[in-house]
Amino acid sequence: MTKNILITGAATGLGRATVLKLAENGHNIAVVDFNVEEGEKTVALAKEAGANALFIQADVSNEENVQNYVAKTIEAFGTIDVFFNNAGLMIPFRLLHEYDENEYDRIMNVNVKGAFFGVKYVISHMLENGGGTIVNTVSSNSFKPTAYNGVYSMSKHALNGLTKSIGQDYHDKNIFAVGVAPNNMLTSISKNAAVTYTEEIGKAIHATTPPNIAATAEEVAEAMIFAMNNGKMLTGSTINCAGGQILL
Ligand SMILES: NC(=O)c1ccc[n+]([C@@H]2O[C@H](COP(=O)([O-])OP(=O)(O)OC[C@H]3O[C@@H](n4cnc5c(N)ncnc54)[C@H](O)[C@@H]3O)[C@@H](O)[C@H]2O)c1
Repeated sequence: MTKNILITGAATGLGRATVLKLAENGHNIAVVDFNVEEGEKTVALAKEAGANALFIQADVSNEENVQNYVAKTIEAFGTIDVFFNNAGLMIPFRLLHEYDENEYDRIMNVNVKGAFFGVKYVISHMLENGGGTIVNTVSSNSFKPTAYNGVYSMSKHALNGLTKSIGQDYHDKNIFAVGVAPNNMLTSISKNAAVTYTEEIGKAIHATTPPNIAATAEEVAEAMIFAMNNGKMLTGSTINCAGGQILL
């Protein structure tokens, strides 16, 4: 069955890989990102693969932008059946006492406030539309922080909490939320973080997430699609998708 799917952070990495896997089944997909060039490329690739796709530029931490991407998706497709709340960022690796307020705000504004805004406006629509499923891209950092990445870890713990709260608030309203928590993926998110990388930081990070076998975005995308298709039974929980690197 064709679904109407809204995906944030879909210009690159896991978001794009998930769009392209979904496209094989010909869904309607709204690709949201602030990166126009790569976002448009995702849309072109999705169309080639068989989807009906459109690009909507947005900064997910800006409430008006979020209202706009939700409205544009509904305008194009009529409804939103699945919301993949995936946009996220990291900033340069550091110890907790080394963060300044701007860095703290950048991470929290995108990873927590942005995810919350998405949920707020999509759920308002899903309540009118009879339900839907939300998948949040959490992280193994929401279970076990890696070293030198403390505020990112805090943000992903918050997203885990948001997933649980959606489970509590809406399970009787046919609205479901699942978190999926990858560990280490071969994408560009850590490029920003790596500018402060040193041998000492590398050792500390690797010691916290052995054996450091990175997953591909395509492998993790399969788990995202499983979550999208099984919201009712999984709602409120987060799937540990760390390839055996993090055991709960
Ligand atoms: N790569 C990993 O090791 C890893 C592990 C666990 C979780 N994650 C999570 O996976 C998700 C996807 O990241 P990725 O690994 O594919 O990296 P990525 O950098 O390739 O993708 C992140 C996407 O989010 C977009 N984005 C960032 N801030 C935005 C904003 N304010 N508004 C709109 N779009 C914005 C970026 O432009 C990019 O397209 C993130 O939530 C990340 O925290 C990644």
